[in-house]
Amino acid sequence: MTSAVLVTGGAGYIGSHIVAALARAGRASVILDNFQNSSPGVVARLVRLAGTPIPLVEGDVRDAGVLRATFAAHRIGAVVHCAGMKAVGESSARPLAYWDVNLNGTVRLAEAMGEAGVATLVFSSSCTVYGQPDALPVGEDAPLRPASVYGRTKRAVEEFLRDLAGADARWRIAILRYMNPAGAHPSALIGEAPLGRPNNLVPLMCRAVAGEFDEVPIFGTDWPTPDGTGIRDYIHVDDLAEGHLAALDHLGSHPGVLTLNLGAGRGYSVLEVVGAFEKACGRPVPKVVAPRRDGDIASVYADASRALALLGWRATRGLDAICEDAWRWQRAGGRYA
Ligand code: WQD
Repeated sequence: MTSAVLVTGGAGYIGSHIVAALARAGRASVILDNFQNSSPGVVARLVRLAGTPIPLVEGDVRDAGVLRATFAAHRIGAVVHCAGMKAVGESSARPLAYWDVNLNGTVRLAEAMGEAGVATLVFSSSCTVYGQPDALPVGEDAPLRPASVYGRTKRAVEEFLRDLAGADARWRIAILRYMNPAGAHPSALIGEAPLGRPNNLVPLMCRAVAGEFDEVPIFGTDWPTPDGTGIRDYIHVDDLAEGHLAALDHLGSHPGVLTLNLGAGRGYSVLEVVGAFEKACGRPVPKVVAPRRDGDIASVYADASRALALLGWRATRGLDAICEDAWRWQRAGGRYA
């Protein structure tokens, strides 16, 4: 029996696409999720996509007992750690929850991995660890100046993982700094299903065009960018998921710590993304100019050359595919319940 990859947060937006990508590559997953910000309905969709059963453990990544039982019950060879809290705005109001889930969750997980003799870990980090970079595109060696509690928890987990690997050469750890994941699986069976009003641009456009919300606020048209709106590096969630598989493969022959940006390597403004989405759905996006959002930065996009050089990975799906797939998912309901 080959070993499975434990995907914490495997029912979430990115985790579910990683489970689907693992299945496409013929690899088994075990999902650990507490459904804090996801829905059990995703699992049946993943089983449909995978064509095989996918074990699910409902539990919290901070729960040592649950982790121990999971490693005892399943033959796990590696872990992709996506479980965490990720809303920038909420993180300043709830620092205790963010530090507890994101940092303590990773500490408990590493402990359980150590006990079980599993040393391969891929960690979901974020480009938010950079804050506003001095130079663009931002490379992995740029200074880390996160502007939010959320970003500081991600930076701290990165440091913790480097300390672990520094003390024990058996660890094989990939720290993946995601740019802006968006889009959905082209089957429209899985996608981003935020509970409540979406914070992020693409899911908010989906729901606004579908008539669930009035208008998409454009957070500032006075940024120092060519059209005055913020520039980000949007990466298709399936490209991102495949980056995790490439990182797992790389770790198979490279112990130590690898830190990589996963991005498309080019930036689009909010108005460019709105235009691409209008083209994909054939309707106008209702929008209104609004003040800048607290904690936003003008511009960030990745230097993604290290991932290409070391993993042979690059994003292959562009902004049009992101918008088409996101809209297809929305038209299919955009939810699991
Ligand atoms: C994109 C652009 C907004 C909503 C966040 C996290 C980041 C990462 C990805 C996890 C910005 C503008 C947005 C809206 C708008 N997540 N916008 N109106 O903030 O770049 O990144 O998600 O790690 O850490 O910070 O993504 O989709 O919210 O915003 O004008 O209603 O769209 O100002 O320029 P962001 P986003």
